[in-house]
Amino acid sequence: MCGIVGYVGPEEAAPILLESLRRLEYRGYDSAGIAVVDPVGTLRTLRRAGKLVELEQVVDADSPTGTCGIGHTRWATHGPPTEENAHPHRSQDDTIALVHNGIVENAPVLRDRLEEAGYAFRSDTDTEVVVHLVEEAYRTADSLEEAVVRALEQVIGAYGIAVVSSRDPGKIVVARNGSPLLLGIGSNGEYLVGSDAAAVIAHTRDVVYLNDGDYAVLEPAGYRTYHLSEGAVRRHVHEVTWDLAAIEKGGYPHFMLKEIFEQPRTLEDVTRGRLLEEEGSVRLGGITLADRELLAIKRIVITGCGTSWHSALLGEYMIEEFARLPTKVEYASEFRYKNPVVDEDTLVIAVSQSGETADTLAALKEAKRRGARTMGIVNVVGSSIARETDFGVYLHAGPEIGVASTKAFTSQVVALALFTLYLARRRGLSILNGRRTVQAIRALPGQVEEILAQDEAIQALAARYEDAKNFLYLGRGFQFPVALEGALKLKEVSYIHAEGYPAAEMKHGPIALIDERMPAVFLAPNDPVYQKVVSNIEEVKARAGRVIAVVSNGNGELEMKADDCIHIPETLPHLLPVLSVIPLQLLAYHIAVRRGTDVDQPRNLAKSVTVE
Ligand code: AGP
Repeated sequence: MCGIVGYVGPEEAAPILLESLRRLEYRGYDSAGIAVVDPVGTLRTLRRAGKLVELEQVVDADSPTGTCGIGHTRWATHGPPTEENAHPHRSQDDTIALVHNGIVENAPVLRDRLEEAGYAFRSDTDTEVVVHLVEEAYRTADSLEEAVVRALEQVIGAYGIAVVSSRDPGKIVVARNGSPLLLGIGSNGEYLVGSDAAAVIAHTRDVVYLNDGDYAVLEPAGYRTYHLSEGAVRRHVHEVTWDLAAIEKGGYPHFMLKEIFEQPRTLEDVTRGRLLEEEGSVRLGGITLADRELLAIKRIVITGCGTSWHSALLGEYMIEEFARLPTKVEYASEFRYKNPVVDEDTLVIAVSQSGETADTLAALKEAKRRGARTMGIVNVVGSSIARETDFGVYLHAGPEIGVASTKAFTSQVVALALFTLYLARRRGLSILNGRRTVQAIRALPGQVEEILAQDEAIQALAARYEDAKNFLYLGRGFQFPVALEGALKLKEVSYIHAEGYPAAEMKHGPIALIDERMPAVFLAPNDPVYQKVVSNIEEVKARAGRVIAVVSNGNGELEMKADDCIHIPETLPHLLPVLSVIPLQLLAYHIAVRRGTDVDQPRNLAKSVTVE
């Protein structure tokens, strides 16, 4: 999730661009840059990898002059976070600068054509393709905006872009398709651009939200809005009433709740361009192993910590069930000290949202030292773990700010399901089963949306259980890792003790804990072990326990047996965790809010544990 800013007006642009970029720091970034055009048509671009302060120092030392410019904070999706990959990207003739938020899905094809046409690329990014397309179009277009439109007609994917050119000093052209972008309408000939209102609110509360397919031209004399297919359009000017803190959270009270509600989008993003419905398979560009190398793997170890260990456990279950390859999940902190049986026929998969967890990085290095091939399932592009692995699958979930991992977990599960399908279809899984899986994965975002609509009911549930001192979370099969994850979420944010167990393990000890003060959360969706879980629920009810059951839509049976039920849609058993975890995320969140804890930064916890 990158941040875009822009300014044109009577003031020097550079300080305003930096101030706007500071307002977007919460979006997460690994590099930043600005481009400024002065009235005589000199275009200067300054970029730095790392924190914004690096860029500020460079600008302070040698500030570009000019009253028109654009800026960008980058959250890497293609290409590591380096200065060369930082935005703005420049045309070959250095007359055009462009910033972009989104993913150009057909970048490889476009890059090949442009390179054949003589354009030399300086970066590994998909964005650089767009600025060369604009340069190519501008050779014959009558205006910068015409060149931008012609370029965008060739782009497939999501974008929010802003473009300036020394051939058009004092003009910014912006366009939006899939990535948010707005205009700030200032007074006395001042116009701004931002990925969200935080970028412009210091100057104006009057904003124009661009729609998909819109583009706009901003100059000191005014702004004009267009749609690619409708031509000139008028867009409503809204007044922003939020304060800055609320804007950073998108209007949600906490990042955790915002990220829970982002999951329909992040589940689209982790599958974008990767589902091959016709073939019943997936395209994973990050898997650089040849099929024969992949088929030579004799066993898989999946390692991670905390929530990432829970998704790794689901990965173990999936790969063994569908790819029929011996697979074992390992706590990273245990793996590296247990003299693990790992050799060149082993694939070790490291799962990590941050890509910086010290235990997981150390386990990965130990695996490489023993000759294993290594793969990453990581969110942060260019992170240490991502760079340490031989190949991998990025989550594209955007920054996860809340310490309690939510959207990363569901994206990890889907990424592991995609890899499982990739492997299984090469190891005998039928095309029919492959197609069913692809169709079920494609339906997940809408199904998650349906569950999120029950948020109010789950808030009421939280009020009934907020005073409990202990919780049990119970599930079988693919729902056992969900039980573990639900317990961790509650522990982390509400400080209530909670344990996850295989439901069948109840009778081997935990059932001694059951009484009317001990809520038991059962994961009981329609799956092959549903009836067994019903028996476990009856065992708890027979001992006056209180039962919250996550059940499939239409299940009336457990309405009669459980004290509370939360309904979720049906899907394939190994994809059900993506749905059954959502109510548990919301339950943990709302109980924590009612208990007044620091939901986004719970006591004693860090977002990324970079120490052993
Ligand atoms: C999960 O909610 C916790 N924040 C924690 O368990 C986390 O999953 C763990 O520290 C691993 O982090 P990583 O995914 O960034 O490696």
